[in-house]
Amino acid sequence: MSAWQIGRWTLPGRALLAPMAGVTDRPFRILCRRFGAALAASEMITADQRLWHTTKSRQRMNHEGEPEPRVVQLAGNDPAQLAQAARLNADLGAQIIDINMGCPAKKVYGKLCGSALLGDESLVARLLNAVVEASPVPVTIKIRTGVSRARINAARIAHIATEAGVSAIAIHGRTREDFFEGQAEYDTIAAVRATTKIPVIANGDIDSATKARSTLDFTNASGVMLGRAAQGRPWIFRDVNGLLENGEIPAELLRTQIRDIILTHLDLLYVFHGETSGVRIARKHLRWYCQQHTVTEGFRSALLAAETSSLQFALAQECFGRWASVRQ
Ligand SMILES: Cc1cc2nc3c(=O)[nH]c(=O)nc-3n(C[C@H](O)[C@H](O)[C@H](O)COP(=O)(O)O)c2cc1C
Repeated sequence: MSAWQIGRWTLPGRALLAPMAGVTDRPFRILCRRFGAALAASEMITADQRLWHTTKSRQRMNHEGEPEPRVVQLAGNDPAQLAQAARLNADLGAQIIDINMGCPAKKVYGKLCGSALLGDESLVARLLNAVVEASPVPVTIKIRTGVSRARINAARIAHIATEAGVSAIAIHGRTREDFFEGQAEYDTIAAVRATTKIPVIANGDIDSATKARSTLDFTNASGVMLGRAAQGRPWIFRDVNGLLENGEIPAELLRTQIRDIILTHLDLLYVFHGETSGVRIARKHLRWYCQQHTVTEGFRSALLAAETSSLQFALAQECFGRWASVRQ
């Protein structure tokens, strides 16, 4: 498989982890990178430095020990503020700056950030010119296809981005108005790819290696970005890379291997977030792991109710240990 570039970075694979606020913290990014995600952007960080003192922002800006290149995603709408935020994050170790132009959440959209930017192309141009000019590292953007189905403008945004010197563009095949409803469409992504010189990354509803293959074939994109499909299954990148590189999906992991991944994940969460937040955040991942790997209801309830890391870890050990001891 031919390597491809984002700015000066050569990427070894075509499958990327999508940024997900509340999910893709440093432990989860590290796990997905271990299983072959070629890139894993941080959860979005506000460009407003006045909020950077909060624990949430500080945690989101922490990428110690992450493999290169480290991607930090910024959200904002003020060109000077975003430019400054990009420069400062590069000083703090970001090696690619990604700008969020896709978030549909009211909290973000209402502040004219995220996907709201797609409705103001001249602001997008000013903003990207300012960030690219200020950033010592490559700049990428992540967009939806438009604000609404009546206003699909991904191709024009891609053109503006290319002119500004942006290094790659990821497109979620839904509009802001769609939120997460219906199916992502890839026609727009294919059309943008056909008229855009910088790498295009396809995103939305890619939930298996075969879907990754068919989406790459259909769109001719340089890469695919997977979000929700990695929840409870960070090793999905191994399957995708196997199929894309060798034409076949590798044999399933052994249950004992999955058990060990889950326990490693818990350890990483406790160390990174500390006792209270670690247990709370681990609960979310444990729920996904339980969904993926049918765990008996009694065990599941006890596991999700545990309030200390030692109890949560011990129950996870027992619960997934029993599950792993059943012959596959
Ligand atoms: C819980 C959650 C949080 C998300 N947070 C972000 C974010 O911080 N930045 C961003 O650009 N997209 C965010 N997204 C959108 C995803 O990156 C991705 O575009 C979307 O989930 C579609 O891809 P998927 O079908 O593979 O999940 C989020 C999605 C989810 C489900």
